[in-house]
Amino acid sequence: MTSETERPAHVLLAVSGSVAIHRGLDLVRELDRHGVDVTVLMTEAACKLVRPLLFQAMTRRRVHHDLFSAEGEDPYDHLAREADLMVFAPATADLIGRLAAGLGDDVVTTTALAFSGPRILAPAMNWRMWEHPFVQRNVGVLRDAGYRIVGPGEGDLACGERGPGRLAEVEEILAAALEALPGKPPRPGSH
Ligand SMILES: Cc1cc2nc3c(=O)[nH]c(=O)nc-3n(C[C@H](O)[C@H](O)[C@H](O)COP(=O)(O)O)c2cc1C
Repeated sequence: MTSETERPAHVLLAVSGSVAIHRGLDLVRELDRHGVDVTVLMTEAACKLVRPLLFQAMTRRRVHHDLFSAEGEDPYDHLAREADLMVFAPATADLIGRLAAGLGDDVVTTTALAFSGPRILAPAMNWRMWEHPFVQRNVGVLRDAGYRIVGPGEGDLACGERGPGRLAEVEEILAAALEALPGKPPRPGSH
């Protein structure tokens, strides 16, 4: 039996319905390579873009995407208590708005409300959405509430235009996550 301090780091990765969702898979792989346990939470829109099974196969853990299908368990309660860090990547304009409003209307936002540890948010969207005053206001609310905002970067966007809104590089999100997990040992056997 390992003590609390010997337990490997455990990250809750919340994935929302962005075209950059495939980079969430890269992030899972990198966190895993660094010996971090990852449990993925998906919004309904994320599940329309990628099947939860893919994240489940990569994490070897159950993926939580339906608040009301949890067989006898409250993911938002026990996961929020167990995890060391919550990472929202990619974070859509919609998810950012719901988090900033303090809503708990799905498994991601409800868990976010129940979680009191460090939080990292990596936005991804079209540059017009990113520059929208409501989105900027919502990001400001989350920053003021202690969320670390990583990115977005500038460059070619899925819409075919260039500008700010590109999901930060996976290495950048990974570095922020590892920085937020001080003193946590990697899972035995990882490198
Ligand atoms: C193919 C596709 C890609 C999308 N990419 C983005 C995106 O990168 N960023 C964003 O804010 N919304 C994006 N959207 C719109 C969101 O999926 C939509 O606002 C949805 O309601 C978000 O829900 P969620 O925040 O619960 O995941 C995309 C929609 C589609 C169909």
